[in-house]
Amino acid sequence: MILSQYNQYYSSNILKEFNCPTYVIEHSKAVMLKATNLAFNFKGDVDLDLVKAGSMVHDVGRSKTKGIKHAIIGADILRNNGVPSEIVEIVERHIGAGITREEAEIIGLPSKDYLPVTLEEKLVAHADNLIHGTNEVDLDFVVRKWKNKLGVDHPSISRIIKLHNELTGESKLP
Ligand SMILES: [Fe+2]
Repeated sequence: MILSQYNQYYSSNILKEFNCPTYVIEHSKAVMLKATNLAFNFKGDVDLDLVKAGSMVHDVGRSKTKGIKHAIIGADILRNNGVPSEIVEIVERHIGAGITREEAEIIGLPSKDYLPVTLEEKLVAHADNLIHGTNEVDLDFVVRKWKNKLGVDHPSISRIIKLHNELTGESKLP
């Protein structure tokens, strides 16, 4: 049997190695299932093993911090451990529907564009939006959460709705 190059990263063992708490492991498994389900809309165009690997490790940075920087810290951890860059980029770009360079500068992240680009990056970011803890939530819940955090007119809200429509085929309005 030929194993995918990403196969080794979608076991929860990797999260245990980096001392992630149990709730992160359970959340990551739920995100993996949701991302896999969303990926069915794109059969043939998506690397499912990469989606599974990125889902499993997307919150590895939560072993160090609960804040928004966990995406960047997680990406650094993986990069320093020789994890393939396409997995690292899924992790770095998984907050909401991504963060622009301008927004990153405002919130004190290293000046860089953190928007998801590939289908695999988008699938993991949005599966994470739609899983709260281990529970599936709907888009209204996600929009309410980010409006509370960032304000009703923040551009990231419409970005999340646009990403949702792109990945689900729905036509939700802002
Ligand atoms: Fe996260």
